Amino acid sequence: MLGQFVDAVVCRAKKHEHVELLASFNAMPVINGLTDLCHPCQAMADVLTVRESLGGYQNKHIVFVGDGNNVAQSIALCTAMLGMKFTLSCPSGYEMDSDWLARIAARYPKSQIETVADPHKAVANADAIYTDVWTSMGQEAEMDARRAAFASYQVNEKLMAAAPSHARVLHCLPAVRGQEITDAVIDSDQSDVIRQAGNRMHAQKGLLVWLLNRKWIDDNIRADQAI
Ligand code: NVA
Repeated sequence: MLGQFVDAVVCRAKKHEHVELLASFNAMPVINGLTDLCHPCQAMADVLTVRESLGGYQNKHIVFVGDGNNVAQSIALCTAMLGMKFTLSCPSGYEMDSDWLARIAARYPKSQIETVADPHKAVANADAIYTDVWTSMGQEAEMDARRAAFASYQVNEKLMAAAPSHARVLHCLPAVRGQEITDAVIDSDQSDVIRQAGNRMHAQKGLLVWLLNRKWIDDNIRADQAI
């Protein structure tokens, strides 16, 4: 029914399977607006920001300090697609999903993705340092345990001092200032966070131009299957 009303749907869902189910009806383009598994729209804005700041992708190194969450998983995938390096620095138990990593490795055999527990070692040769909230939507009951687990993974001036001086700072927002990132870092000259947020609009405009291309729709959306 929706497919007759609209040209495309953005679906933000707690469970990734729910977005896949909506897309499986083949009634219209379905855009993943964030799930528990991944956040591809965010990653598109992130790589646009990286290209603007670092001048390209090849072997650029993104270090994600924090939870191996939906945002980390999508940017990890993008680094594999674009020939970049990705390091996740997180406490034990908060790594990225192993099935997700296996799928990336199978599709992109040259991917350069690693996990390094010590955040100071992890950022030593970073071109960009990325962080996100320690407690994602739907994980609120784990907030206290997560705050304790991630206490030494804050992106602060001490951590930035362990990174190259050219390293850029990224955050998908909203941030919990004083928790995963300090004011001094998110508001610093090294921070691309506000431009990164602005790029959400530009990246998603590009996505719509591509998806609403008549030929793409004819090739990919089977109107006869709409229910
Ligand atoms: N990891 C965060 C991202 C918010 C844009 C969450 O899922 O809540």
